[in-house]
Amino acid sequence: MSFLGSDIISVSQYQREDLERVFSIAEACIPIALGARSRRPLEGKVLANLFYEPSTRTRLSFGTAFLRLGGALETTVGMQFSSMVKGETLSDTIRVIDGYADAIVLRHPQKGAAAIAAKVAKNPVINAGDGDGEHPTQAVLDLFTIRQELGHVDETNIALVGDLRFGRTVHSLAKLLAIYDRVRLLFVSPDALTMPEKITNLLDARGVAWERVESLDMAVKRADVLYVTRIQAERFQDPTMAARLAGSYLVDHELIVRNKREDIIIMHPLPRYNDLSTDVDKLPGAAYFRQAHYGVPVRMALFCEIFGCMP
Ligand code: NCD
Repeated sequence: MSFLGSDIISVSQYQREDLERVFSIAEACIPIALGARSRRPLEGKVLANLFYEPSTRTRLSFGTAFLRLGGALETTVGMQFSSMVKGETLSDTIRVIDGYADAIVLRHPQKGAAAIAAKVAKNPVINAGDGDGEHPTQAVLDLFTIRQELGHVDETNIALVGDLRFGRTVHSLAKLLAIYDRVRLLFVSPDALTMPEKITNLLDARGVAWERVESLDMAVKRADVLYVTRIQAERFQDPTMAARLAGSYLVDHELIVRNKREDIIIMHPLPRYNDLSTDVDKLPGAAYFRQAHYGVPVRMALFCEIFGCMP
């Protein structure tokens, strides 16, 4: 299906053939993302990057993708510098910005915020993370990374590790992996942070094999890809609980070596915080910085789809 002029709110919008098309455009965008080739199909377009929650990779990779395709960028960061501190509603803010820019990228602490924005905006709205809801473009770049690292996504064992309850990246990724064939999902998390039932029900409905794995060692032994996430401390009502769970799991070099899995692909949406040791960085399968860099060509490809241009 065509994504010309459309919003990106949830990974549920994507079919397999859409992803394959996005991935082949993303591959063509890699030299442009690296600055080795110049293309300006978005010349004259303006992107509004609205980030009401902290972000480094997502905000800058959306920005770089748009700028490297010849577009221009407007950014607002943090509620404290926006009219929302004066009591303006999200809908009013979006209605105004919709008149300044050709597309809006929104990160917001409230689940469902991007859908609200998309309802009032005439121009496309892209969800860059809505609370503990979804992070669809991250999942697309995560899949692109798996494909680049392993050469395929079908018939893979993917272990999702960490805060599966509040982690929006794992919510979107699990849903998106469900459209591939014979993918097995292994979930490793503290008991209080298991994958929401809404998502496991969806996996069941799609016939996706998933299981909770008790130990990191078991997951490392069986997985082709280990996708690690941090505890989403900012989403806990009781901060002492987040503090108690911090450090309850750690992927380090010793874990990989004692399971003889120096070949395993290790991913992380970043930032890492006491969950992924820097001594893993030297392993050939440590893919998280490559993953972060793929954010630019993948987001370029998504812009090409939305604006109906080729790189
Ligand atoms: C994640 C996010 O903000 O959801 N990071 C990202 O976008 N690359 C993960 C996180 O904050 O833990």
